[in-house]
Amino acid sequence: MISRLEEYEKMFRLEGQLWWYRILHERVEESIRQRFGNRRDIAILDAGCGTGGMLDCLHRRGYTNLRGIDGSAEAVAFCHERHLSVTCVNLNDLATFEPEVRYDVIICNDVFCYFNEADLPPLITSLAHRLKPDGILISNNNAFNVFQGQHDIAVGVIRRFMLADFDQLMPAAGLYIAYATYWSFALSPMILGMRQWQRLQLRVGWRKPEEAQSDVYMPSTWLNEILYRIVKSEQKLLRRTPFGSSLFMVVDGHSQALRSIGDRG
Ligand SMILES: C[S@@+](CC[C@H](N)C(=O)[O-])C[C@H]1O[C@@H](n2cnc3c(N)ncnc32)[C@H](O)[C@@H]1O
Repeated sequence: MISRLEEYEKMFRLEGQLWWYRILHERVEESIRQRFGNRRDIAILDAGCGTGGMLDCLHRRGYTNLRGIDGSAEAVAFCHERHLSVTCVNLNDLATFEPEVRYDVIICNDVFCYFNEADLPPLITSLAHRLKPDGILISNNNAFNVFQGQHDIAVGVIRRFMLADFDQLMPAAGLYIAYATYWSFALSPMILGMRQWQRLQLRVGWRKPEEAQSDVYMPSTWLNEILYRIVKSEQKLLRRTPFGSSLFMVVDGHSQALRSIGDRG
């Protein structure tokens, strides 16, 4: 969970505008459309929905069957300001949340990083149990330890990921990684430079860990737009890129997973 309440407030205020969130929300919506076409009535759960920016984006695009859960009462209160259907639930107790309901899509963005080695496999298994047979899990995660910086401290994450971390975790839960890419490749030198600078500030004592700042802040409007366009162009040109501070995955549920394995066999 994020211990600093101001981080939820910043997320709530900026997630509709900041290039990074816009890219992520659009990418999630494109993945849903690729699988379900123009259907807007599919059941979607945002697990660890934060302050509701993703759900709000999907609502604006016409999706009608949206649910969210988050373990933070503060985050849920922000979601309610947006009139979203969100409940305060710890993801460790997902099995007890409306147990009869299954979803076409479960979104779980930047949440796995709060789960340790022991707790992540049960979480992925319980997400898999809540998917319909043809459902998909969409998950963005922070990637590569080299991108650790003050941002990680400020938002309280405990780990970063590589695609290889999921190679066994997903199949063990009956899931199959249908698509994965790191992003943003083009911006990674800039982000790497910033994060290394943040680490140096901590190392030499120019900034204390308790003063660490997240990267959730609004740059100037023109810079925000340029960063958005760079990443958008990258996505149009390259379907997959090998490096970046985030890892985006589309994961197939049970029946698609079996079909994919059958295709390979
Ligand atoms: C970095 S935020 C991401 C929020 C949102 N998914 C997004 O993409 O903006 C991580 C979210 O996971 C939630 N979270 C972390 N651990 C959780 C747990 N055990 N149960 C429920 N929510 C949890 C936090 O409260 C926070 O809202």
